[in-house]
Amino acid sequence: MATGTSDDLDVRRLSGSLGAEVRGVALGRATADDAATIRSLLLEHMVLFFPDQHLDADEHLAFGRLFGELEAHPNLDLARERPEFFELRAVDGTGGVADEWHSDISCQQHPSKISILQAKVVPEVGGDTMWANACKAYDELSAPLRELCDGLTAYHNAAPHLAPEKGWIHPVVRVHPETGRRSLFVNEHFTRRIVELSEAESDLLLGHLTRWIQQPRFTVRYRWAAGTVAMWDNRCTQHHVLNDFVGERVVQRVTVMGDEPESAVPLPRWEPHGSRTATFWRDTEMRRKLKTQQAATPAS
Ligand SMILES: [Fe+2]
Repeated sequence: MATGTSDDLDVRRLSGSLGAEVRGVALGRATADDAATIRSLLLEHMVLFFPDQHLDADEHLAFGRLFGELEAHPNLDLARERPEFFELRAVDGTGGVADEWHSDISCQQHPSKISILQAKVVPEVGGDTMWANACKAYDELSAPLRELCDGLTAYHNAAPHLAPEKGWIHPVVRVHPETGRRSLFVNEHFTRRIVELSEAESDLLLGHLTRWIQQPRFTVRYRWAAGTVAMWDNRCTQHHVLNDFVGERVVQRVTVMGDEPESAVPLPRWEPHGSRTATFWRDTEMRRKLKTQQAATPAS
């Protein structure tokens, strides 16, 4: 594959909502033309799976850099040697807290754009990952609920990484900068509160939206093999690791830095609820409250 077209590739869709398996390209030797083809496939399918790649760390990093600047994990200190490359080892379903639906590092000002994950060691049973199409989930909300969500913002923070003081406010609905599609950008892992609603209203709506996106018809589920590389667009998907596995599971990831999410409509449409300001959600009162909610093990 050197022509920059997808003609030489075998692309097979894996569900009606998102995801395709791609064969016929060696990611370790990918060119800029290959990257352009892969980028357009990613925009179409949202998550791509490339079996039998077996990248070493340098190849993995070089492939990632074809899609933009890479970032070190902002909250986890997992890779001192190569800060932009991190490896997660887990045994028997102790894979950390990535077994909640999320898009990667949505709690930072510039959430991750693309994640590229290789399975190094696959457990004998379980350990699949699921992805959901956040555009389809948005599109299938009723028109009144879409309009309400368009005008709301939500506070995300890094409590799951034991860093609740790190957070940011994003639109509840973001517009993909390349496709123009709107998607739901709240998730059960990082999103704490809808800023313009009362706490009770926020709990209700966040609960609905985060459960809504988890419906099986919006998802694809992938069974890993060692050497498979998955690549997903965090701007329009969420994912969830199944911590049901038996045996060892080792995955390696590089992550491409993203932009600050754009809203679908001019914001703010409403003031933050009560007398609080938008920055309230980043202040100490919220941090105190979240101390009791901190998870025990990082990794997502
Ligand atoms: Fe993740």
